[in-house]
Amino acid sequence: MERQFKYDIMPEIKERWSMRAFSEDKIDRDEIMAIIEAATFAPSCFNEQPWRFIIADDDEELEKMRSILLEGNQIWANAAPVLIAVLSKKTFTYNQKDNFWNMFDTGTAWGYLSLEAHRRGLATHAMGGFSKKRLREVFDISEEYETICIVALGKPGNKKDLPENLQDREKPDIRKGIEEILL
Ligand SMILES: Cc1cc2nc3c(=O)[nH]c(=O)nc-3n(C[C@H](O)[C@H](O)[C@H](O)COP(=O)(O)O)c2cc1C
Repeated sequence: MERQFKYDIMPEIKERWSMRAFSEDKIDRDEIMAIIEAATFAPSCFNEQPWRFIIADDDEELEKMRSILLEGNQIWANAAPVLIAVLSKKTFTYNQKDNFWNMFDTGTAWGYLSLEAHRRGLATHAMGGFSKKRLREVFDISEEYETICIVALGKPGNKKDLPENLQDREKPDIRKGIEEILL
């Protein structure tokens, strides 16, 4: 089934989807930074900007980041030339109290990141399938931060390079109707 749109919304939102086929072509640091900059312009509670990123785009760092992913994700995500760990600061800096909204705000930042990447002809795919414990150990991350996901970033690749079962799933997912999500 194809995605259906009732309304005229931003093309980037309509077209973005989480592909698994990545080209191994390297991505310029400048391009990665532009995409990160888009993320930083997300709104956040008290302008706390709780989002934090760890970028792996050279062989050594990529090897470390890949080792944190669950096997089902490694199968396809190992081809991505950039892996970005998304973390979120759990407390407000101005008073050290819990920031209930930190993951909400970091989620918005990831959304911006994915749309800017798409606008530049790049693909993103977020993964919750990784070892939080290993991410903390490998990159020495303190409890000050929540470890949320690892994002694969790169140029779209060839679906034929994926294992057969994943080739069938290599298409944009559909959505619930608007009526279903309004309470
Ligand atoms: C926080 C988060 C975690 C996800 N974890 C995984 C994952 O571990 N493996 C995977 O293949 N896809 C993962 N996905 C991708 C979702 O399955 C995908 O976004 C969803 O099916 C909607 O499809 P679309 O992004 O193509 O619109 C994750 C997405 C998000 C936002």
